[in-house]
Amino acid sequence: MSTDYKTMTTAEIREDYLRFFESKGCRLYPSSSLVPEDPSLLLTNAGMNQFKEYYQGTKTMREIGATSCQKCLRTNDIDNIGDSRHLSFFEMLGNFSFGGYTKADAIAWAWEFITAAEHLGLPKDRLYMTVFEDDDEAIELWHAQGVAYDHISRLGEEDNFWAAGPTGPCGPCSEIYFDQGPAFEGERPGDDGERYLEFWNLVFTQYDRQEDGSMPELPHRNIDTGMGLERIAAIMQHEGSNYEGDVLRTLIGVGEQLAGVRYREGAATDTSLRILADHSRAVTFMIGDGILPSNEGRGYVLRRLLRRAVYHGRLMGVHGSFLPTYAHEVTRLMADVYPQLVENQALIDGIISAEEERFGATLDAGEGNLTAALGRLDAGEALSGEVAFRLHDTYGFPIDLTREIAAAAGHEVDMAAFDGAMAKQRERARQAANRDAWGASNNVWVSLSDRLGETEFCGYDEDTVEGARVLAIVRDGSEVDVACRGEHVEVVLDRTSFYGEMGGQQGDSGKLVCEDATLAVSDAKHRDGGFVSHVGEVTAGELRVGESVRAVIDHGRRELIRRNHTATHLLDAALKRVLGDHVSQAGSLVGPSRLRFDFTHFEAMSAEEMARVEGMVNAEIFAAEPVVTTVMGIEEAKASGAVALFGEKYGDVVRVVSTGASDEPFSRELCGGTHARNTAELGLFKIVSEGSVGSNVRRLEAVTSMGAIEYLDERLAQIDQVAAGLRCRPSDVAARVEQLKAEKAETEHKLRAALTGGSSNAVADAIASAIDRGAYRLVLARLDGVSGKELRSAWDSVRDRLGVDCACVLASESDGKVGLLAAGTDGAVSAGFSAGDIIRSVAGLVGGRGGGKPAMAQAGGSDPSGIDAALEEAGRLLGA
Ligand code: SER
Repeated sequence: MSTDYKTMTTAEIREDYLRFFESKGCRLYPSSSLVPEDPSLLLTNAGMNQFKEYYQGTKTMREIGATSCQKCLRTNDIDNIGDSRHLSFFEMLGNFSFGGYTKADAIAWAWEFITAAEHLGLPKDRLYMTVFEDDDEAIELWHAQGVAYDHISRLGEEDNFWAAGPTGPCGPCSEIYFDQGPAFEGERPGDDGERYLEFWNLVFTQYDRQEDGSMPELPHRNIDTGMGLERIAAIMQHEGSNYEGDVLRTLIGVGEQLAGVRYREGAATDTSLRILADHSRAVTFMIGDGILPSNEGRGYVLRRLLRRAVYHGRLMGVHGSFLPTYAHEVTRLMADVYPQLVENQALIDGIISAEEERFGATLDAGEGNLTAALGRLDAGEALSGEVAFRLHDTYGFPIDLTREIAAAAGHEVDMAAFDGAMAKQRERARQAANRDAWGASNNVWVSLSDRLGETEFCGYDEDTVEGARVLAIVRDGSEVDVACRGEHVEVVLDRTSFYGEMGGQQGDSGKLVCEDATLAVSDAKHRDGGFVSHVGEVTAGELRVGESVRAVIDHGRRELIRRNHTATHLLDAALKRVLGDHVSQAGSLVGPSRLRFDFTHFEAMSAEEMARVEGMVNAEIFAAEPVVTTVMGIEEAKASGAVALFGEKYGDVVRVVSTGASDEPFSRELCGGTHARNTAELGLFKIVSEGSVGSNVRRLEAVTSMGAIEYLDERLAQIDQVAAGLRCRPSDVAARVEQLKAEKAETEHKLRAALTGGSSNAVADAIASAIDRGAYRLVLARLDGVSGKELRSAWDSVRDRLGVDCACVLASESDGKVGLLAAGTDGAVSAGFSAGDIIRSVAGLVGGRGGGKPAMAQAGGSDPSGIDAALEEAGRLLGA
């Protein structure tokens, strides 16, 4: 490869790019999380994602534009990854303008950056541009920089029109290509060949595509450019492939070491080495951003990447745990730019190892399944495509492995049928992805946000806000001017004391009151655009837009919620201390009666761990620590050690909630919720349940204050009830239960003795002397030491051992009491045997009374001396 330009490392290019655009007046933004703020987007797929609101004009930026190095993940062609081009995770260098600098600036600066000797210094004759088909303006702008016309060509919509998803900001683009020289195949920029490499895309984001396909102009003409860092690194290192830049090549080296192979010595191992380099980096970053493996959404993407990596490790003969080795290398290489890799290292290691182990077991199981399916085939018969697909889809068993194992057993796989099933599944996934892409839902809240500002929340200290103005009323998804009695509506005020459900804290209830109307508010929700919506029913009068109202929350309910929210923070802090730093909040619900907290952890908590957590939280409560809220800059907050949530986007100014000493707080979190003023308000904290919600995520439910008292009252009532049933004092319940268990064991022992030893001889003797009554066999026996209840078991064993229609009359003396039992099978009963009649007739002889049904009857008696007479009489009655 030519050496007519200089060499730069990935780190140097990244740094140089960001400084360059900062020098042009762009503000540097840190990379946002791979979990996009925009809930309709599955994963962050471009640098522009975090700026969506600036594009749409709902936010404005003071500087002329922005620049960033954004971590991105694209999985549309996951099956192509491993060829020399495609990557799932990549870094994108970007510069952005929202009506600030112009298309002409963007083009001039791009040219300057790639050609100036102090920056990339690429040879001009090796650079080519493409523009959107009718974009004459772009052609002239490039030409004005000195680009020859024959280095500029036009491409159609498919190549040169960019959109993050089916709706939202989009526009024509212009791409910059690098010519690798005639040694590579390829005719012109934009074809499939390797000769012309596209490395920078300049999008002139002008339109806002709507659901109906129309494309109104955005509020201003914007710029969004993106340069794939891996691609430009490969170019600047005089290498053709994305995988041969310094970072990915180092990761390929990890695989070489582990598998004892060399890169570039075999096509199959090369593919596996590339897949491992790419996927291991992607999964490390995904978990670092708080994504956990699951069966849907981004958790599913993570799981697929993880599994594909494990499988390719196996293909190269690497067994046991190896992905953590990759993760450590990724962290070593990239943590200076992405510190969350270090912060979350324990979590990354734990999740990767657990999933690796689980999938290893899956592979073993799938292999078992496959071997069984192959065993059922005739010689030479192909394995059906459906079976192969099911293995792939249900067990995650990779088709390549299926083919390999099948081939070893002398079978092909019906790939046509397999591909058909895969195509169908891909179509389903594509449709789902389309829905997922960022489509700005054109709902009423978005259009309201064009006109109205966010609701001001005044409810941290006040329960009531006077003179709040009704800005909008929404009924059935549309704006209305007035809501009448009986109507269910959502009301937006300019300011409110109602907390709109957010961050797990449930919304407030209460009422909005004005002279002519009352809205009973059952819930408050946080809506797009920063609105608090008061959800409720008009219970009196007519409520109109423009009116001034008093907003009053249900004070008691809010107080309970405050306490549970503070308890959630204490719980989080205690869990981290007891279980370790890998504990990270994965979801929460804070309501008036209880709190629920989901967190990452790899196994069930032991009773001892729960007791320690509970004890720690209660110690904070009994220490009556003030709960202090401070408003500060985000950087200051993070520096103070405040716990921030994964995937949560914070503004520049944040609230930090702390409990405990200010220099060493027990808990300190970024939080917009409402809290108790002092931990003592929580009164008492009790965990009520612990369980699993998906792999590596545990869920605790807990109660405080009144909820804790109610919970304890209920538990005490249950104990009282049990004590009453056991006829003992509550404090003796445990001893009484032990006693009953001992008695039961003793009884069972006696019964066993009765049936096998001692009286079982009697049973055996009785069976031996069974009298043939034609239709059935009759057993008359005395089994002393056996209680009335145990006689039933004796009958069961008589019946089972005889195995034919039979009947019995059994008598016993136990503790000075007599037990009598008569019983017969259906056949005996149809032949005239009636247990009830017999018992009625003979019970008097043992001083008792009794009766029952023809198939079963029992009696107790007080006179053991009559037992033999009673049996004799029974025999007589039954004609024995
Ligand atoms: N959004 C465009 C892209 O992803 C340019 O940044 O290519």
